[in-house]
Amino acid sequence: MTARAGLSLLLVLLFAFWLALLSGLPAQAQSSVRAPDTAVNTFDDPNADGPPNTLGTESRSAFWSALKQGEIATTSSSTADGKVMQTLGEQWRLFRTQYILKYSGWVLVAVVGLLMLYYLIRGPMKIKDGRSGKMVHRFSTAHRVAHWFIAFVFLFLALSGFVIMLGRPVLTPIIGRDANAVLTSAALQGHNLFGPLFIFGLIWIFVKFVRGNFFQMVDFKWIFKLGGLFGGHVSSKKFNFGEKSWFWLLVIVGSVMSISGLIMLFPWLFEDLRFLQVSTILHAFGAVTLLAVALGHIYIGSVGMEGSLDSMVKGEVDENWAKEHHDLWYEEVVGKTAATTSDNKGESA
Ligand code: HEM
Repeated sequence: MTARAGLSLLLVLLFAFWLALLSGLPAQAQSSVRAPDTAVNTFDDPNADGPPNTLGTESRSAFWSALKQGEIATTSSSTADGKVMQTLGEQWRLFRTQYILKYSGWVLVAVVGLLMLYYLIRGPMKIKDGRSGKMVHRFSTAHRVAHWFIAFVFLFLALSGFVIMLGRPVLTPIIGRDANAVLTSAALQGHNLFGPLFIFGLIWIFVKFVRGNFFQMVDFKWIFKLGGLFGGHVSSKKFNFGEKSWFWLLVIVGSVMSISGLIMLFPWLFEDLRFLQVSTILHAFGAVTLLAVALGHIYIGSVGMEGSLDSMVKGEVDENWAKEHHDLWYEEVVGKTAATTSDNKGESA
C-alpha cells in the first residue's frame, strides 16, 4: 500500500468515526422544557377560568410553552411591568440548541468531507518543474514563532471549545455522563486560561504579517482564475488573494471572538443580559467559521500543496515553488539580491 493510499484510508476511517459520533446529535439537541405532545392544551379554552397553572386537573403546559416562545400575555401584578414572562432567555436557548448546536458539527463534517474528496480526486498539488534544490528565504524566525504560537493556541481553543459545546450530545453517549463532566470541566478551565493568550497571539500575528496583506489589483486576476484551483498559472506577490482573505478573516472574526470571549469571562461587567446572550451566539458562530476556514488553510499548508510547509518550518522555500506560486514576489527577491550583490561589488571595487 502506498503512503497516499494509507493516508486516504486513515482519513476515511477517521471521517466515518466522526460522522458516527455526530449522528446522535439532532435527537439530543431538542428542547427539554417544551410541553410533551400529549399535554392537554387549555390555552384557547374559553371555559378555563382563573390564572393558568400546572397543578390543577388539566395541564397548562401549552400556555407556558407558548409564552416561552414569545406569545404576549399580560398580568395585573404590579411587580412584573405587566409582562407575564421575560422570554428572551428561552429564545436564546432555542436558537442555540436548534441552530448552533445542531448544525455546527455538520458544517465541520462537510468541510472535512470536501477536503478529503478533493485530496482523493486531485491528490497534492505538485511543484510542476519538481524541486530545484535551491532555496529562497521566505519567513524569519520571529514570523514562524508567531505563526506556530497562534496555531497551537487556536487549535487548543477549538478542541476545548467543541468539548464544551458538543460534549453533552456527542460524547456523553460514548464515555458516559461522569467522564464527560470531568472532561468538560477540564476543557472549560483550559479554555479560560488559553483565551487571553489567543488575544496576545492575534495582536502578534497582525503586527508581523499585516505588511504584504493589503489587497491589490493583481488579486482580482487571482479571483478570476479561482486561484488556479482548476489549472492555469496565477501571478501573485508575497501573499495571494486566498492567503490575504484568511489573514483578514482571522483578524476580524478573531477580534469578535476575543471581545465576546472577554464578555463571557467577566459577565458581571455588563448588567444587560442581552450582551451575554449575543456574545455566546457570536462566539459559537465565529468559532465554526474560523475553524472551517482554518481546516482548508491547514490542508493547503501541509498535505495539499507540495513544498508549502517548508516556508513555515524552515523559513525558506524551493525556488521552483516560489516561481510557480508567488512569481512577482520571487522576482522582487531575486532583484533585491542582485542589487545587493552588485552594490557590494561596487563598494569593494
Ligand atoms: C496546524 C496546522 C497549520 C499549518 C500546517 C499551517 C501552515 C501554514 C503555512 C505553510 C503558511 C505559509 C504560507 C506561505 O508561505 O505563503 C501559513 C501562513 C499563515 N498561517 Fe498557518 N498553518 C497552520 C495553522 C494555522 C492556524 C490555526 C492559524 C490561525 C489561527 C494560522 C494562521 C496563519 C496565518 C495568519 C498565515 C499568514 C498568511 C498571510 O499572512 O496571508 N495557521 N500557515
